Amino acid sequence: MADATSSSAVLGMFVVLLTVLFKAIWTLFPNLKADVYDWLIIKMTTKWYAAVLAKVEGGARVLDVGIGTGTALVRNKELLVQKNIVVVGIDYEEEYIKKAGAIVANAGLAKQVKLNCTSIYDPKLRMLFTGPARFDAAYFSGSLTLMPDPAAALKCASNMLTDAGLVYVTQTFQNRPSPVMEMLKPLLRRFTSVDFGRVVYHWQVKEIVEKAGMHIIEDEPVPGSIDTAAQTARLLVLKPTSATKRD
Ligand SMILES: C[S@@+](CC[C@H](N)C(=O)[O-])C[C@H]1O[C@@H](n2cnc3c(N)ncnc32)[C@H](O)[C@@H]1O
Repeated sequence: MADATSSSAVLGMFVVLLTVLFKAIWTLFPNLKADVYDWLIIKMTTKWYAAVLAKVEGGARVLDVGIGTGTALVRNKELLVQKNIVVVGIDYEEEYIKKAGAIVANAGLAKQVKLNCTSIYDPKLRMLFTGPARFDAAYFSGSLTLMPDPAAALKCASNMLTDAGLVYVTQTFQNRPSPVMEMLKPLLRRFTSVDFGRVVYHWQVKEIVEKAGMHIIEDEPVPGSIDTAAQTARLLVLKPTSATKRD
């Protein structure tokens, strides 16, 4: 009993120490968090953006929900320019949007990619993007299930779409139960304050889409991305209905 109490005290101390250590690192090196995040995910999400931009109509206006540092988008500059796609990217993390500003400007895309530091839940967004400012597509790359209420986020985005507008989602889904990953992801967030999301099983996205009153019109693995027995990166295309656009 005494042993168990002292081991949980040691574990508790370890968690507190790691949390303090990461807080200190992010404070001392304010740009490092965005760089680490990029290093972890960009190779994969660049392929996701390529797959979605290939599907979006030429000349489309796209809302990128949770654009992060914009690196994955900008790595697809050729497609963006070729198809004359205009992007408004939003993210609620100031450090990411700051880095995105520099990346977009360095790529010479400042006219084609506009950035805004805000959350998809912000009601002001929906007042800003009405009438001719509506989008042909909204895109959630790795961001949908980081959000506290993914169905509400889908509804918020759908309310800024044209009548024919579609929502694109790319992210990894767990194919089989993984209690270790279920425990690990929130722990990593706690230590590092970097949001690695939570484990999402493929069947769960169907519930989210249904709750948002949307239809799944495509649901397929992203070509060339992760596809193992445990995990698959998928691309979903969603169509809002009148139920989606009701608050
Ligand atoms: C995994 S990253 C993906 C970044 C980028 N889309 C990519 O695929 O390379 C998810 C992003 O969603 C952002 N995010 C999470 N919740 C958000 C919200 N409510 N509104 C706007 N952005 C959000 C996070 O800050 C993070 O930058």
